[in-house]
Amino acid sequence: MRSLKNILVTGGAGFIGCNFMRVLLQKTPEFTGRIINLDHLTYAGNAASLADIEARFGAQGSGRYFFEKGDICDRVLAESIFKKYNIDTVVHFAAESHVDRSILGPEDFIKTNVFGTFTLLDIARNAWKSDDGIMRNDVLFHHISTDEVYGSLGNSGFFTEQTPYDPHSPYSASKAASDHVAMSYHYTYGIPVTLSNCSNNYGPYQFPEKLIPLMILNIIEGKPLPVYGDGKNIRDWLFVEDHNSAVWGILQKGRCGESYNIGGDNEWENIKLLHYLIKIVSAKTGLVQTKVEQTVKYVTDRPGHDKRYAIDCSKIKKEIGWNQQYTFESGLDKTVDWYLSNKEWTDKIKSGEYLKWIEKCYGTRN
Ligand code: NAD
Ligand code: TYD
Repeated sequence: MRSLKNILVTGGAGFIGCNFMRVLLQKTPEFTGRIINLDHLTYAGNAASLADIEARFGAQGSGRYFFEKGDICDRVLAESIFKKYNIDTVVHFAAESHVDRSILGPEDFIKTNVFGTFTLLDIARNAWKSDDGIMRNDVLFHHISTDEVYGSLGNSGFFTEQTPYDPHSPYSASKAASDHVAMSYHYTYGIPVTLSNCSNNYGPYQFPEKLIPLMILNIIEGKPLPVYGDGKNIRDWLFVEDHNSAVWGILQKGRCGESYNIGGDNEWENIKLLHYLIKIVSAKTGLVQTKVEQTVKYVTDRPGHDKRYAIDCSKIKKEIGWNQQYTFESGLDKTVDWYLSNKEWTDKIKSGEYLKWIEKCYGTRN
């Protein structure tokens, strides 16, 4: 029986991590433990995404939420956190997560995604061994990964858990490496490890460098809508809460040494998705749809741009009993509403490093 009492969430100030903590603390009554969030607050980690959690569950609230600012590569710090909070579960979200950034500057990706993951695993290996050298069996290290480790699909077929790894970007290569390190710690040292490979997420609190939030904000602000290449690349989209309910299912029932694909059964060509988004945002804001359509701008393609991702997630459905709860329509509706009513959050994000980044990379587009 897993303890699930003191969960170390890494990267909890990022998009998926902060939504995960919300799902656990607010919508999962069977979870009665504590969450310790270790985050370095890089450009993608936003303290503004945590204010409500801090208020309700932090020291002034129920005392079930703790924040530790720091780098997962910092062994001394991470070791002290394991001891201080008696960590029995790790849900490892922290990563450099944007493909375009990894193309421009891969180093941080290798450091955080590979060396950072190794550091946490190595600490867990020591922390979870009893004095007689036996590994505890009530603990778990769950490593969050991506479908991008599998490379690119042609017009047909799906990624299964048996698909060989074939990463194409520095981001996906660093995630692939971290997946292998995680599994090697299971096989070599006996750490209880589970792994999940998820398709593209969307939802509230996503940093507006990724396709959906970038397009929502650019539509609202009347800016050009940059489409890479011919716009026919395909992604499978999943609402972030559905990803996180899958992760919670794996924490409870996932078999050690196993990986689980998570997806939305929801493939879209980028350009079709963009037209759909324009329709939704225009209807909600009173913008004239045909005018917004004119701001679509085809731009130079991303180097090594993967053509198509599609997930076979039958294993997690069968073994864990998970299923998506949101349709694309209901998930996008929630997402667009959130961006429309959280201007303060996006303004904060955009006043920082994001603007410098946009200037550097997309200067001619925005
Ligand atoms: P994100 O970029 O929004 O957040 C990453 C978080 O990690 C930030 O809060 C950042 O401050 C923190 N972080 C970065 N480097 C750190 C370090 N060295 N030490 C401590 N904290 C650090 O990312 P996300 O979209 O929430 O993705 C979370 C995880 O899910 C990643 O592992 C990513 O590979 C995986 N994933 C993401 C998607 C997606 O569509 N976003 C899909 C599948 C898998
Ligand atoms: P993104 O959200 O960066 O996720 P990933 O590259 O990890 O799949 O991009 C999703 C798709 O949208 C991808 O095919 C690249 C494309 N894209 C654009 O066409 N324009 C953009 O401005 C961005 C950010 C992405």
